[in-house]
Amino acid sequence: MSDLANKTILFVGLGLIGGSLARALRERNPAQKLLATDSDQSALDAAKQQGVVDQTGSLQELAPAADICVLAAPPLALIDLIPEVASLCPSHTVFTDVASVKSHVLSAIDAQPESFAENFVLGHPIAGSERSGFQAASVDLFQGRKTILCPLERNSSQAVAQVNELWRQVGADVIGMTPERHDQVLAATSHLPHLLAFAIVDVLLHQEQSDDIFRYAAGGFADFSRVASSDSTMWSDIFVANAEATESVLDEYIAALRSLKESIHNRDRAVLQEVFNRAKQTRDRFVHNHYQGNSTQAVSDNLVTLITAPGGTISGSLRVPGDKSISHRSVIFGALADGITKVSGFLEGEDALKTVAAFREMGVTIVGPDNGEMTIYGVGKEGLQKPRIPLDMGNSGTAMRLMAGLLAAQAFDSELFGDESLNSRPMGRIADPLRAMGAAIETDGDGTPPLKITGKKLRGTHYDMPVASAQVKSCLLLAGLFAEGTTSVTEPAICRDHTERMLKGFGHEVEGGYPESTTSVTGNQQLKAATIDVPADISSAAFFLVAASIAPESELLLEHVGINPTRIGVINILRAMGATISFENEREVGGEPVADIQVKSSELHGVEIPADQVPLAIDEFPVLFVAAACAEGETVLRGAEELRVKESDRIDAMASGLKTLGVEVETYPDGIRIVGGDLGGGKVDSLGDHRIAMAFAVAGLRADDSIEIANAENVATSFPGFTSLANAAGFKLTELAG
Ligand code: S3P
Repeated sequence: MSDLANKTILFVGLGLIGGSLARALRERNPAQKLLATDSDQSALDAAKQQGVVDQTGSLQELAPAADICVLAAPPLALIDLIPEVASLCPSHTVFTDVASVKSHVLSAIDAQPESFAENFVLGHPIAGSERSGFQAASVDLFQGRKTILCPLERNSSQAVAQVNELWRQVGADVIGMTPERHDQVLAATSHLPHLLAFAIVDVLLHQEQSDDIFRYAAGGFADFSRVASSDSTMWSDIFVANAEATESVLDEYIAALRSLKESIHNRDRAVLQEVFNRAKQTRDRFVHNHYQGNSTQAVSDNLVTLITAPGGTISGSLRVPGDKSISHRSVIFGALADGITKVSGFLEGEDALKTVAAFREMGVTIVGPDNGEMTIYGVGKEGLQKPRIPLDMGNSGTAMRLMAGLLAAQAFDSELFGDESLNSRPMGRIADPLRAMGAAIETDGDGTPPLKITGKKLRGTHYDMPVASAQVKSCLLLAGLFAEGTTSVTEPAICRDHTERMLKGFGHEVEGGYPESTTSVTGNQQLKAATIDVPADISSAAFFLVAASIAPESELLLEHVGINPTRIGVINILRAMGATISFENEREVGGEPVADIQVKSSELHGVEIPADQVPLAIDEFPVLFVAAACAEGETVLRGAEELRVKESDRIDAMASGLKTLGVEVETYPDGIRIVGGDLGGGKVDSLGDHRIAMAFAVAGLRADDSIEIANAENVATSFPGFTSLANAAGFKLTELAG
């Protein structure tokens, strides 16, 4: 639980930001002890008189009482304050600042003793107003806005968690960035626009008869120049402090203006229109996302259609994005661990990002992911905070089922919801065994989301899973980490064991597990932060394995792919069908086996898929069905009823699309029979299921006409950048919005 309520918070600077934070904290907790110092006595008097702070005075007087010290002075004044607060505040004081430039603050902290630097967590609320001073301070300035924290590895976890909590308490969404990235991003999105606003007003001011000009200026001028009414001291400080980053983005802007000037000079309407149109679309999208607000129903309203052109040969070498299952788990365990977890190769797809967002909402500070790199400041097993809103799991069954196990055992209540597809998927399979552990979970009448979870103390149990599901197993093991005694799960057939492997990597004992069918964990152990290298996802690689197998004269190398034995059903099945696939450079990274995979075109033949391969290839069947459609003879799959409750009913979705392409298909409640032959073109519906969409994109390589794949917008849930990576390898795909 947060102990922020008992802390004394000292504001050094009580202008717009400091004043708004004090007001918001006071409103949330009238008993919170708030102190303030500022060179502006009238601000202090007003704050005291309005009851916003309890005590005002000099820094010397107030510093000794500070548990948390918020430096909310203008950027350059802040630098002079750092040595002062370092010498006046007690050693346990946690510091943060609100400056919109971080590099210069960092240099000032670096000059202080290490013990001070450990407790200083750089921060910056992305909120403000052109108005300044305490009189402009507003209680809801940070509500629903972002606050960027730039924690460093040297920071104490407790300091990071406290500063995070400070901002959560006032309604901000806390995100993490490195100080360097922060300064670049702010230079582009905030500092440059302010500079332009100041500059345009100044240019007009120097025009002859400027009075007249201002008289005729209207709404456009007022909108564009609004931020030129901002505080001049603060903004001149900002440009001095962030000179390097702003100079560089300013150079780009000057070049863009020059080129626009040339287009105007040449009366080149087409170029102007192209630039303006691009900008308009981008801004419209920004405004839409920015002002959309919170919704308890995730919606994807940007429809995407993929169109294949016939033919293509697949070649080269490529690395598909990180493993989705491992990415989800890296955030979960990193958040629950003590210490800092570093992740590389993280999948920046929408599904895994939902898990990141959920932990941010529960008070975990996460820097990135940026190019697959992510740093998680673990809060420990007891450190999660009650989410302020229902948690949006988007399209992700894994996120929802794993989070449910974890949340069932917390000291707070929570709610999980998803998009249309996820909201129709079965949750009884986790809710029932969790209830047997003492959990209180409500589902919708038919056992589907949303899930309303009342946090409870759980007790360990044994569960014999009726279906082979890694999500159910992982959900129960996660609950088991918090339960009293031992929790064990027996799987009816092998299912992926990433949870077990990663738990061991985080220093947690796990009994049994693959190749044994029972896995157990005993509660009351802590997790220790780890370093995780997420291998490329074999489920994403599968599209290319099939593509290079069925497209003529193809040869492809897929780099750094996870080949965990519980996941390689797709390779076993393709090899049984005659595919030429070899592993090179086999190695182990962070407890997961990895290899580069070589694949060449082959004549495939149909097979009866062995029952024991079904759970090992459960996500890869859509594209395996495409391989079957291109193979000689017939392929039969049985015992795969689970495919009917994935992101879509994958048996029906694939059968219907393959029939459209002219393939002979028969479906069963638990499987499908596909007779290989020639593929034609046509219009297929991927039903918003990422893997159905990508499977038909692969089919396009052998179809003799174009395939139009509707509702392909969810490809980015597991495979951001699919179209461009596929085209680089030899696909002929076009992506259309709408
Ligand atoms: C997953 C397990 C599988 C798989 C899903 C990811 C996981 O689901 O289909 O894409 O990360 O644990 P089931 O547990 O429902 O088989």
